[in-house]
Amino acid sequence: MCGIIARIGGDDDGAVDELLTGLENLEYRGYDSAGLAIKNGGGPEVFKREGKISRLKDVLADETPDGGLGIGHTRWSTHGPPTDANAHPHTDCTGDVAVVHNGIVENYDELKAELRADGHEFESDTDTEVIPHLVEEELAEGADPETAFRRTIERLSGSYAVAMITDREHVVYATRRGSPLVLGVDGGDYFLASDVPAFLDFTDDVVYLDDGDVVVVEPDDYRITTPDGEAVDRTVRTVEWDPEDAGKGGYDHYMLKEIHEQPAALRQTLRGRADPATGDIRLEDFPAGSFADVDRVQFVACGTSYHAGLVGAQFLSDGGVPARTFLASEYATAQPPVDERTLVVGVTQSGETADTLSALRRANASGAATLAVTNVVGSTAARECDDALFIRAGPEIGVAATKTFSSQVVSLALLGERVARDVTGGRSEDARERLEALSELPGHVQQILDYTSARRVAEKYRDAEAYFFIGRGAVRPVALEGALKFKEISYEHAEGFAAGELKHGPLALVTPETPVFAVFTGRNDEKTLGNVKEAQARGAPVVAVASREQEAVAQYADEVLTIPDTHPDVAGVLANVQLQLLSYHAADLLDRAIDKPRNLAKSVTVE
Ligand code: M6R
Repeated sequence: MCGIIARIGGDDDGAVDELLTGLENLEYRGYDSAGLAIKNGGGPEVFKREGKISRLKDVLADETPDGGLGIGHTRWSTHGPPTDANAHPHTDCTGDVAVVHNGIVENYDELKAELRADGHEFESDTDTEVIPHLVEEELAEGADPETAFRRTIERLSGSYAVAMITDREHVVYATRRGSPLVLGVDGGDYFLASDVPAFLDFTDDVVYLDDGDVVVVEPDDYRITTPDGEAVDRTVRTVEWDPEDAGKGGYDHYMLKEIHEQPAALRQTLRGRADPATGDIRLEDFPAGSFADVDRVQFVACGTSYHAGLVGAQFLSDGGVPARTFLASEYATAQPPVDERTLVVGVTQSGETADTLSALRRANASGAATLAVTNVVGSTAARECDDALFIRAGPEIGVAATKTFSSQVVSLALLGERVARDVTGGRSEDARERLEALSELPGHVQQILDYTSARRVAEKYRDAEAYFFIGRGAVRPVALEGALKFKEISYEHAEGFAAGELKHGPLALVTPETPVFAVFTGRNDEKTLGNVKEAQARGAPVVAVASREQEAVAQYADEVLTIPDTHPDVAGVLANVQLQLLSYHAADLLDRAIDKPRNLAKSVTVE
């Protein structure tokens, strides 16, 4: 889990500033340390610091090196603690080879032992450091840098995206296997990065690299080849995101900006895909009949995407299709029955989550059809699965997933309806009403953003000992998601439960100091109300998330976070927006690092 960047230009002075901009745009991938290596005529000059990029900037403010070519890195620690020594780039014994790496070199122990036996000295605890030393060995035996790079990567097992510079040439060598890497084309200058927003300030022309691609980049020229050196042709695509999309756009935090982007994101998700007037669904690559051979559906996902997957399975079960959702990290242990009539859907915002990719690969190997529901075109999940459905939410920078959850749920509602129609041959009874409610979502979310009292409620309960979230049926996942978001960014104790489970154990935790947030949809509300009364009887304050129509609920609640009246299957998206805002304001009042909560990273590319 890290971000890598390279900037390849002529012998001008621009590289440092552009690399720093790129690193700032990649900081969501890790922020334990940052570093860069610049070439200005001779060998690479390395600058690196433990901590955020601002610390590296301080170092560079004193001694900014000239140079038009360099590589950079922002780290999320996997091997060794966050220290200056463990920060990338890493170099060989001579200091002539510098490397940045995202991923894990699984055989680094044995490689390190071999290199040590040959006299190499290591300065860090990282797995990465074996790479420049392996290159050094090859160079010493007379290989040119490109051959040395190719021979080195042949020896690595694990997942990686790597970029390398040497003292010998004005060239960057890079490759990917299992970790993301994209090439940005800016006239005769180029960028390599873990993700497109890294260089969106400079260019929106992108080449998505495939696993195994080796790219050799110099000013005015680049070559992409297979590991064996065979040339491959990759298209240059123009992405629609502009730099403004990747910036905070006037909000204090990316998370708040992304919460407010939900009406636009949902419009994009829905665009051209559903017609409430006729009840028709048009999912680009999935015309009617696409899923006629499916017997059952399994969702695999992590974190917030898992909660969206739970909602997805509910949509399918309601439509008459057996469906189940697995935590991707548990999928191998669960070993559910899979055959060629099983559709395994990986729900993953980034498309790079290692646990989810691993579950999808396992499903694929067992003969299932695989489908990625993802936000990132060109991501590993999108490329490795048989098919992909894009949620079209736009870039999400805040570590806490917000707009992508809403877009995932809507995408899964449309997908669920398509699959259910193909499998059962009929439409779900209230398909048109549900599509109508989906099409109203952007406007309904906007209403919540305009009138929410989430900050006042967050303030009222800011001294609570713990926060509990309950929901039943379609909104049980929303209760889980509400609690995940709350703990993730406020660092306060928060738990989500199926409403009916409260009395089977969690009630022992309920006191006047533990507010209970109860989500209502207009379906099975009486039972959830019964659970609310159980909590109130123990003195707990109750905050209902419910529509104005649910008058009985308002009578019992101490506070109501109101949502517009809608179809019960869709109410969860609206309730979740209120809970996102609640978490955001609770964390803001506590002055937490909202966009980069401690110990977490946006994209978890290790199992
Ligand atoms: O990119 P993915 O959707 O696969 O990421 C999965 C989880 O790591 C992610 O949803 C995580 O739980 C969020 N940071 C929670 O806000």
